[in-house]
Amino acid sequence: MSKVITAKNLKLGYKNEDIIIDASFSIKTGEFIFLTGASGSGKTTILKHLYGELKPKDGFLQIGNFDMNKISHSKLLYLRRFIGIVFQDYKLIKDWTIEKNVKLPLIIAGIKEEKAQKKVDKLLAKVKLTHKAENYPYELSGGEQQRAAVIRAIINEPVMILADEPTGNLDDFSAKVVMDLFTFANQLGITVVIATHHLPKDFSIPYRNIHIEGKKLYELS
Ligand SMILES: Nc1ncnc2c1ncn2[C@@H]1O[C@H](COP(=O)(O)OP(=O)(O)OP(=O)(O)O)[C@@H](O)[C@H]1O
Ligand SMILES: [Mg+2]
Repeated sequence: MSKVITAKNLKLGYKNEDIIIDASFSIKTGEFIFLTGASGSGKTTILKHLYGELKPKDGFLQIGNFDMNKISHSKLLYLRRFIGIVFQDYKLIKDWTIEKNVKLPLIIAGIKEEKAQKKVDKLLAKVKLTHKAENYPYELSGGEQQRAAVIRAIINEPVMILADEPTGNLDDFSAKVVMDLFTFANQLGITVVIATHHLPKDFSIPYRNIHIEGKKLYELS
């Protein structure tokens, strides 16, 4: 199995503060990772580095074939085409219908309209949102919007999905729909990295748990 992520002696943080120190780990293609840790421990900080929004303060971080310390802006944009994200500050586009929002990655990838529509219909049905296809994000509940955001992240079958607290504010039904969608994506071979406060109960597929405590990473399972 090839490695999607290799980190060696990483130091991550902000100008005046180190958040993660001396972190070494690798993540292989197709693995399912839960990144856990208390509030403020650095989960979002790590995900932002994995998406290239932030650069390491020290150490080595490779995503795919790219050294994230040295990656150019154009290569970063290229790399991101293979990464699906569910981040709090990456909301659905408010002037677009749900259908158009979730179809966007397919349009960018140059998929033909008929094929794109079929895929959109299939996934909207899977998360019980068919009846909201023509609605705008503000007309959906938080849980419904999040289900649409997760479809947008997986619809183009990226190499890796990064999700930050994707079930944080959801009721049990939406949380289960969202986790089922990540499970489905993982079964297609997509690497999934989810930051969360709590591991889901009765999770049905094998996973790893990387835990942050005292600025260090630990492998819990
Ligand atoms: N832009 C920033 N500049 C300076 N410090 C920051 C910045 N963003 C986050 N931090 C600090 O980095 C630390 C880790 O924050 P991070 O958001 O990664 O935590 P988290 O584990 O995701 O927490 P939560 O579970 O609450 O989302 C916190 O102490 C936070 O205050
Ligand atoms: Mg966070």
